[in-house]
Amino acid sequence: MSEVTHEGLPPGPGTNAYLTTWRFLRDRYKHIPPIHEKYGDTFLIKLLPGPRSLVIFADPADVKEIFAADPSQFHAGEGNTILKPVMGEHSVLLTDDMEHQRGRKLLMPAFTGSSMRAYTPLVEAIAKVEIDSWHDGDKLVTLDRMNAITLDVILQVVFGVTDEDRLAVLRPKVNRMVNIDAKMLLAWSYPKLFALPPWRGYFKNQQEVDELLFAEIAERRTAQDLEGRDDVLSRLLRVGDTEGEEPLSDIEMRDQLVTLLLAGHETTASALSWTLHELGRHPEIQANALAAADTGDDAYLEACLKEAMRLHPIIDFVARTLQSDQVVGGWALKKGTTVAPSIMLSHSRDSNFADAHLYDPERFTVGKVAANTWIPFGGGVRRCIGAAFSLMEGTVVLREVLQRYEVAAEKVAPNKLRNITNVPGDKAPLRLKARSA
Ligand code: HEM
Repeated sequence: MSEVTHEGLPPGPGTNAYLTTWRFLRDRYKHIPPIHEKYGDTFLIKLLPGPRSLVIFADPADVKEIFAADPSQFHAGEGNTILKPVMGEHSVLLTDDMEHQRGRKLLMPAFTGSSMRAYTPLVEAIAKVEIDSWHDGDKLVTLDRMNAITLDVILQVVFGVTDEDRLAVLRPKVNRMVNIDAKMLLAWSYPKLFALPPWRGYFKNQQEVDELLFAEIAERRTAQDLEGRDDVLSRLLRVGDTEGEEPLSDIEMRDQLVTLLLAGHETTASALSWTLHELGRHPEIQANALAAADTGDDAYLEACLKEAMRLHPIIDFVARTLQSDQVVGGWALKKGTTVAPSIMLSHSRDSNFADAHLYDPERFTVGKVAANTWIPFGGGVRRCIGAAFSLMEGTVVLREVLQRYEVAAEKVAPNKLRNITNVPGDKAPLRLKARSA
């Protein structure tokens, strides 16, 4: 905990909470930078319901302090409770303290380096099937195609469902489940709405997905080949035995699988779409990426991905809610205040990244990125479990695309906030040129 070095509360706009909340939920990319410019690296905004206090931090020293803070006093899970009706009460994203520790401990073995290597061939195969359906001269609706790839990666690599008949049943249902708009979020705050259309349909679909998942879990528990299987679910079923923990129950397993689906699907699709978009706008960088795809230089492809995630943070802030009065960044803050390292402001800061507005993958190959400045996956004990997974997946998909196609973007894609994920608002259309053509 730092010493108090500032008096009172951090400065911030005095506008009414309705307006701030509306702006915050609608377009943070537009509204946060001017507030930062006016009030500096730490500022307070008021959000409904409440209004509650959200203090945003942009200085890397403060970001570091928050990520390193005691998780029992800096809760991350409770800020996500709106997702409980779909992710379930055991979700690692929604829990804090002991239950969170248990969830992470049991999930981590499926996300180690050696697990990543085992997942790679299937990700490659999924990407190839998708790219086989593309043609020279096609206009690619990039976000849709990347969503199709990342959804199949979750179904096949995470859930371990590779049987085509089962996939055909699961795909549309899971697709509907992940397509959550603002209207659906409303029902999560007022669950009685789930009795009415269109919420009723969403809820029924979710129940059907749950039934399929429970059936999959039950079948896998008794599968003869469980030991030899490489998917995440099978690994999770094996961990309990070796980690000195009570293994995950069926309900816990369901909640964690749905969490991985919702946390890992559109985020990775968006990161890939932004990367291809930036390559489509920068032919000279794309030439390097094409060469990297041909020679198996995955480090360069990963740098292209990391730099796109820097310039276009998929999640633009993370939050911790104080369980007691705390001093953060020199400010004395009350219990109940939410503190939020801003990913967007960290990534766009010239003192963190020279000429931060430019797309330059070499920052991650030639240059050295300082700690707590590139934070697309958050940090501390809550850092994204799927960080290595999404970088592996992104690198493999980029390699497969670029071995076969050059891409061209005609115009700059606008950012759009879709619930909590930032995506290219026009889905990042690209013109494909077959490399052999
Ligand atoms: C580009 C892709 C992704 C981005 C940008 C991203 C970003 C994030 C961020 C910002 C957090 C919150 C971290 C914090 O509070 O400090 C998070 C948490 C999480 N992510 Fe990701 N993520 C991505 C992909 C994935 C994937 C592929 C998976 C799983 C397959 C995944 C699973 C999770 C889980 C389970 C958590 C909760 C961790 C916890 O609370 O302990 N994410 N992610």
